[in-house]
Amino acid sequence: MTKEEEILFQNRISRHIDELRWLYMELYDNSSMFAELCQKLYDFAAERSEALKKRDLEREANPEWYKSNSITGMMMYIDNFAVNLNGLREKLPYIQQAGVNLLHLMPFLDTVPERSDGGYAVADFRTVRTDLGTMEDLEKLAMVCHKKGINLCMDFVMNHTSQDHEWAKKARQGDGEYMSRYFFFSDPSIPAEYEKTVPQVFPTTAPGNFTWLDDCKHYVMTSFYPYQWDLNYQNPRVFNEMMYNFLFLANKGMDMIRIDAVPYIWKELGTDCRNRPQVHTIVRMMRMINEIVCPSVILLGEVVMEPVKVVPYFGTIDKPECHLLYNVTTMCTTWHTVATKDTRLLRRQLDAVNALPKKYVFLNYLRCHDDIGWGLDYEWLNLNFGIDEVLHKRYLNDYFQGFVDNSTSRGELYNDDITSGDARLCGTTASLCGIEKAGFEQDHIAMERAVLFDLTLHAMMFMQTGIPMLYSGDELAQVNDYSYKKDPKKAADSRYLHRGRMKWELSKHMHDLETPEGKVFCGLNALIDLRGTCPAFSTQADVWTLDTGDNGLLAIGRYASGQKVIGIFNFTEWEKIVTFSHDQGEFRDMLTGKHYLLQNLSVPAYGFYYLEQKNEENKKN
Ligand code: GLC
Repeated sequence: MTKEEEILFQNRISRHIDELRWLYMELYDNSSMFAELCQKLYDFAAERSEALKKRDLEREANPEWYKSNSITGMMMYIDNFAVNLNGLREKLPYIQQAGVNLLHLMPFLDTVPERSDGGYAVADFRTVRTDLGTMEDLEKLAMVCHKKGINLCMDFVMNHTSQDHEWAKKARQGDGEYMSRYFFFSDPSIPAEYEKTVPQVFPTTAPGNFTWLDDCKHYVMTSFYPYQWDLNYQNPRVFNEMMYNFLFLANKGMDMIRIDAVPYIWKELGTDCRNRPQVHTIVRMMRMINEIVCPSVILLGEVVMEPVKVVPYFGTIDKPECHLLYNVTTMCTTWHTVATKDTRLLRRQLDAVNALPKKYVFLNYLRCHDDIGWGLDYEWLNLNFGIDEVLHKRYLNDYFQGFVDNSTSRGELYNDDITSGDARLCGTTASLCGIEKAGFEQDHIAMERAVLFDLTLHAMMFMQTGIPMLYSGDELAQVNDYSYKKDPKKAADSRYLHRGRMKWELSKHMHDLETPEGKVFCGLNALIDLRGTCPAFSTQADVWTLDTGDNGLLAIGRYASGQKVIGIFNFTEWEKIVTFSHDQGEFRDMLTGKHYLLQNLSVPAYGFYYLEQKNEENKKN
């Protein structure tokens, strides 16, 4: 390090050292391991490339950079999208054409294909899967992305390693040092105790939370799949080593790191082993480590839980944890609204999010690589409409499989648990919106509506504050891929239904408004453009919902810097007439330029408006 860099590092560490030491000692009471950690922080800070050090400084000066409304993300599997990392680099112009400037790469680290869970079973945190390329390719991709103004995000799978990881192999051979990095039990009594209080993540594809290893005569804790061994964060060696892996990856040029399955990382007998207070201590320490070594990187927490459990992962204003969290409840409530055509729960959910401090930023999405879990506010649904949770989930699942009258969706169940009556749902946005069915039946009118509805849902998602994340393929209305059923490595996991190969032939029509793919691509582009350039879409804007007087319609208002935008979304197959008596005067349709009054306004079936009004003061500027 140069003298200046040395001073910078000392400044960064001195901001956090007291709290970091305090938390570390509280958890581990091990000062020599803490000293080792501090030395490593220095080493990783020194190893950062000149370009990344510059990025750190720029972002320290603009720490809210990720709150800009001009960021649009896309998540993708590298192999499905572009074969490998170098192929992906060549596809960056397409990504830019799609209006995307944040790439979330699905797991790409070394894994054994037979036991991979889509890459979430990592065998080596420091090696790229050979078919996808090398660490150098990753660094090169990051460099080119940065030059083009694109940010890069990757997963850090911290709850577990693959059974093929070096630590797991040594543990399996009976090496006590490595066994202590996992949860090993020689007799079934403690696992049985855990099973009494710990729910199951994959009740049908991977039942139970422990796996018996016959070769070494031990049970090992496996909350997810049997080949994903839970790490024991009560062991400071695990925490330290995982932090070194985290920093190693950050130094390859990441801008955002998604901390996978983070609520699960602390296990305690007699509890549900989710969201324990120690998880927050660890995430807070990660945030500080991040700010000391690589301040240009932000943390995206994967907390797929009910809202009261999600929000604490932002930490407090003084002691922040994650920068960003998934807006999972709004996502599944949106799909509930698609099936029920009743916007009341969604409105309530949006009001709850809008009431949170503006400092909290969410990652909004319609679909991702995982299934849709029906984590709705059943208490409210039951109290107000007498809706029963199990029956309602069944209805939603029936609806999205296309079994319900007038449903045009094509989805499949995931982890259908006969005992609890619970099941989750898979499928691409396009297939869930009816594009697959209309295409198969060559029904042009149905296709028109399905495409419009796909855009309406995206427009609704884009109106929420935060970073919108597209699921790759959705920009071209790609439908389900059933080929996974023929692959024995994938057949049992229906999430592969929406993890198909990118159909590049669709991109030939991306500007052809006669095709569904062209309509969706151009439609999304226009929305992304508006979102990125209008002040009303900024994080600072005021956001509210409006009374539409019709349960099938949702209306969202946004206001900032003299610009008011009202979005109106019709979830039904009927044209609707709406009046907003408080919003007088002319509004301009931001997409067509036409002018409307918000009295007796007709909203097309499955359609939407983005309507704008600028105040006098703004006009003068
Ligand atoms: C996360 C991932 C999911 C994976 C699980 C286990 O929830 O999103 O795909 O199966 O972690 O790592």
